[in-house]
Amino acid sequence: MVRESRLHPDDLIAPLFVKEGADAPVPIASLPGQFQHTRESLRQEVREIRDLGVPAVVLFGVPEHKDPEGSEAWNPDGIVQLAIQDLKDDHGDELVVIADLCVDEYTSHGHCGVLDASGQPDNDATLELYEQIAVAQATAGADICAPSGMMDGQVFAIREALDDAGFDQVAILAYAAKFATALYGPFRDAVDVTIEGGGNRKGYQQDVANTREAMEEIREDIGEGADMVMIKPAMPYLDLIARARQELDVPIAAYHVSGEYAMVHAAAQNGWLELEAVAFEHVGAIKRAGADLVLTYFSRLIAQGLQ
Ligand code: PBG
Repeated sequence: MVRESRLHPDDLIAPLFVKEGADAPVPIASLPGQFQHTRESLRQEVREIRDLGVPAVVLFGVPEHKDPEGSEAWNPDGIVQLAIQDLKDDHGDELVVIADLCVDEYTSHGHCGVLDASGQPDNDATLELYEQIAVAQATAGADICAPSGMMDGQVFAIREALDDAGFDQVAILAYAAKFATALYGPFRDAVDVTIEGGGNRKGYQQDVANTREAMEEIREDIGEGADMVMIKPAMPYLDLIARARQELDVPIAAYHVSGEYAMVHAAAQNGWLELEAVAFEHVGAIKRAGADLVLTYFSRLIAQGLQ
């Protein structure tokens, strides 16, 4: 009766991977219980989690072919575009389909943008690619585009491209404050990404030590037209989630990332923690801190537990 916050399946967004050319789902070793899905196994998984009450999914593609620009990301027959169509055919408006919008899963070098002559991501040239991806995803039926590459001006560029193509109803969930954390490791296994030459994303993702700068990034994205903003990772940045909740009035999402999920599983596998209890405590804390929505690989487990 006196409980101040509670989890509900409506709070959850399930991140899912779909692999081109796969004829069976491939388990992801560092993300127990998660798979690189085939188109068919993705449909099945989404039917099950939708039945558990989870209203939304975010899709990541694992293409067969990569190139320096990541052109499979905007191919109308690219794996994510096909998966979006499948899910929209199955569920129509009963499922919110969010498309992660970035090129790192599709580029041969693993960066979130196209590289300039010196081998650094070229911010403005990358925006042109993001615009094409947004239109391809919206054409396939995405309800929400979620740009995750942290290029400056990406929200404005995508908003304009969507509007010009007649997709003014497609919303933008901006990965607004995305930190250059060490917690994305398992995700990069999940999408088969290694950054060329041992590189990193510190040139475009946020410094883990900075909250004020992160607030500026969030405000900029809202100014550029983001409908919802995301903070990522979640647990180590509850201070930022709480502050953003106090200072801003747009919906706030938090991404409980691959490393956060993997740590809990690894400890549970050793018998050191109780998996479900810790999953509820962590995701519950993210909500208590102020997130309206949580992207988490625990979505299925939590929705099941809530039943
Ligand atoms: C980039 C992207 C990443 C994640 C989501 N989108 C990885 C990165 O920036 O290296 C990480 C998600 C996770 O760790 O669960 N397109």
